[in-house]
Amino acid sequence: MKENIIEFEKFEWQYGNNANFKILINDLKIKKGSFIGVIGPTGAGKTSFCYSIMGVIPHLQTGEMKGSVRIGGVETKNSSLSMLSRKVGLILQNPLSQMSGAGLNVEEEIAFGLENLGYPRSEMEKKIKEIIKLFELKEHAHRSPFELSGGQQQKVAIASVLVLEPDIIVLDEPTGYLDPLSTEIIFNLVKKLNKKGKTIIFVSHKFEYLNKLCDEILLMNEGSIVKKGSPEEIFTNIPLLKKNYLGIPEITSLFNRLKKAGKWNKEFTASVEKAEKYLKEEFPWMR
Ligand SMILES: Nc1ncnc2c1ncn2[C@@H]1O[C@H](COP(=O)(O)OP(=O)(O)OP(=O)(O)O)[C@@H](O)[C@H]1O
Ligand SMILES: [Mg+2]
Repeated sequence: MKENIIEFEKFEWQYGNNANFKILINDLKIKKGSFIGVIGPTGAGKTSFCYSIMGVIPHLQTGEMKGSVRIGGVETKNSSLSMLSRKVGLILQNPLSQMSGAGLNVEEEIAFGLENLGYPRSEMEKKIKEIIKLFELKEHAHRSPFELSGGQQQKVAIASVLVLEPDIIVLDEPTGYLDPLSTEIIFNLVKKLNKKGKTIIFVSHKFEYLNKLCDEILLMNEGSIVKKGSPEEIFTNIPLLKKNYLGIPEITSLFNRLKKAGKWNKEFTASVEKAEKYLKEEFPWMR
C-alpha cells in the first residue's frame, strides 16, 4: 500500500473578507504517485484547494482555518512556505503572476528556483539545458521572459517549476493560454513526471485529457468535493455534470444521442478509444 502524501482532515477555510464562501473538506487522502484531476464550475474553490495544498492558504491569505492539511505527514500550518515549496510546485493559470522577474532571460528565469535550492553550477546547467530542449524553448533562451507571447511565457513558468522536480506538482488550469500542440506537450510531460513517481493535482476543463490520464477525478462545487470517482464514472454522468454547470464531453454526448434514438442501451464511455471499440462491437459493419 502506498502512503498518503496529501491528507485533509476536518479542513475549513474562510477568507477574511468573504462571508459567503467557505472551503470544507472533511476527509480527503491522496496517495503518493497518483494523478488527480480537479474539475468544477467557476468559483467552486479549485484555486483555493490548490492554495491549501501549497500552503498559500493559510500563510499568504487572511482568513480563518480549522482542521488540518498534511503534506508528507507535516501540517501545512506548522510548516513554512519555503519548506513546503521543496515538496510542492504550484503552476498557475496566469504565467506573469509566477515569473520571478529575477532572471534577465529565459535561462536565468528557469535557473532562479534551482539557485535558491543551492544546486551546484554544473548540475544546474545540465538540468536547464534538458528542460529547455524538452519545452522547445531554445530559440528564446536568451530573450527576456517579458518579451514572449502568453503561451511561451506559460511554458517558461511551467519549466521553472518542473525543473525543480518537487514530489507534488499542482497545476491550476495551466493550459488556458496554450495552443493545442503545447497543451498536448504539457499533459504528456506531466504524465511522464507522474510515471516517475510524482503526485499530480491537475485542475482543468480539458476533460478529454483528464479522462485519458487521471487515476481519479475530484468534482468540486461550493467549496467542497461533491463527488470523487474514476474519470469514466464522472465524465459519463450527464446529470451530475449538468447539475454542477459543467460541459458534457463530446463522446459522452454521442452515446447519449444514440441512446435517445433507441440505438444504444449499454454502458457509456467518454474515451475515444473505448468508443471505437464499443461501436465496432455493436455495429459490425463499422469494422
Ligand atoms: N483572496 C480572496 N478573498 C476573498 N474571497 C476569495 C479570495 N480568493 C477567492 N475568493 C472567493 O472564493 C471562492 C472560490 O474561489 P476560487 O478562486 O477558489 O474558485 P475557482 O474554482 O478556482 O474558480 P475559477 O474557475 O473561476 O478559477 C469565490 O467565491 C471567490 O470569490
Ligand atoms: Mg481558479
